[in-house]
Amino acid sequence: MKALTSTQYFFNKQTAFYRGKVRDVYTIADNILVIVATDRISAFDHVLPKSIPYKGQVLTEIASMFLDLTTDIVPNWKLATPDPHVTVGKRCDAIPIEFVVRQYLTGHAWRIYRDGGRLLCGNVLPDGLKENDKLPQPIVTPATKAISGHDEDISAEEILSRKLLSPERWEALKNISLRLFQRGTEYAASKGLILVDTKYEFGFIGDTIYLIDEIHTPDSSRYFYADGFEERQANGEAQKQLSKEFVREWLMKNGFQGKEGQQVPTMTDEVVQAISERYIELYEQVSGKQFHKQSVAEADMASILDQAIAAL
Ligand SMILES: Nc1ncnc2c1ncn2[C@@H]1O[C@H](COP(=O)(O)OP(=O)(O)O)[C@@H](O)[C@H]1O
Ligand SMILES: [Mg+2]
Repeated sequence: MKALTSTQYFFNKQTAFYRGKVRDVYTIADNILVIVATDRISAFDHVLPKSIPYKGQVLTEIASMFLDLTTDIVPNWKLATPDPHVTVGKRCDAIPIEFVVRQYLTGHAWRIYRDGGRLLCGNVLPDGLKENDKLPQPIVTPATKAISGHDEDISAEEILSRKLLSPERWEALKNISLRLFQRGTEYAASKGLILVDTKYEFGFIGDTIYLIDEIHTPDSSRYFYADGFEERQANGEAQKQLSKEFVREWLMKNGFQGKEGQQVPTMTDEVVQAISERYIELYEQVSGKQFHKQSVAEADMASILDQAIAAL
């Protein structure tokens, strides 16, 4: 098993390069992006020392599927996926806010609640909930997308007072986020899964709003198995997670939460393999299809992609 940790292509008309935590982003002629989802894995805003074979392919294929399934709600940046690791699409002026939508009290929201918080990004949370309980309705809990470091929660009120968005745009983006979440929830349910929470990113070309980045992937979303959910909640048992949460839990169990001075535990081959298998399991559950492992055609990738870009 060979993982793709980083790329270094030089495309015709390439004007910029950005290495994100997980993806390598190439800008072509200022208006096209080639995004390579590598096998890097991040948790608690840290890139972990080992890459996970097939993770990039899983991410690209799941995102691509959901981008195609949501074009009636909002146009998106995708133009083509010339390779199972690569998405080519329109570069947009990204809005530096992550639109997080939550239907369950999990992860960050649970940690705030457990510590006594009842207000999350301006949303009031009812008393008496326990971890992973369903919220009365989905809530949007935006976060600022920091250039470096941790993303921070922000309320609608603050987005408006800091003039990050006009009231009209905030309303529009919030409603689009909720509709996308509804679509993802329905789709997940048809596959026996619960879409727990997720985040969306948006950008503009002129005045038009575009959905950008990845959607409903195991990196941007949490999923539970629906079967037995109620029973596990009633018995106070852990839910069956199908997402990166599995990795976060493993890290926390081994003393790493991304805080200063903490060391990432050694990732043995077994751990890497187990994570890879989880990603593939998620792909197969969500898509209802068998996963076909594809290695990266590194040698001729640049020319394959040049041709794909030229054909747009
Ligand atoms: N269509 C797009 N236009 C502009 N920026 C985009 C688009 N799609 C994705 N991005 C940006 O590309 C980057 C993807 O790489 P990622 O590994 O997620 O990086 P990060 O560590 O910044 O989250 C993100 O910063 C995301 O906001
Ligand atoms: Mg990102």
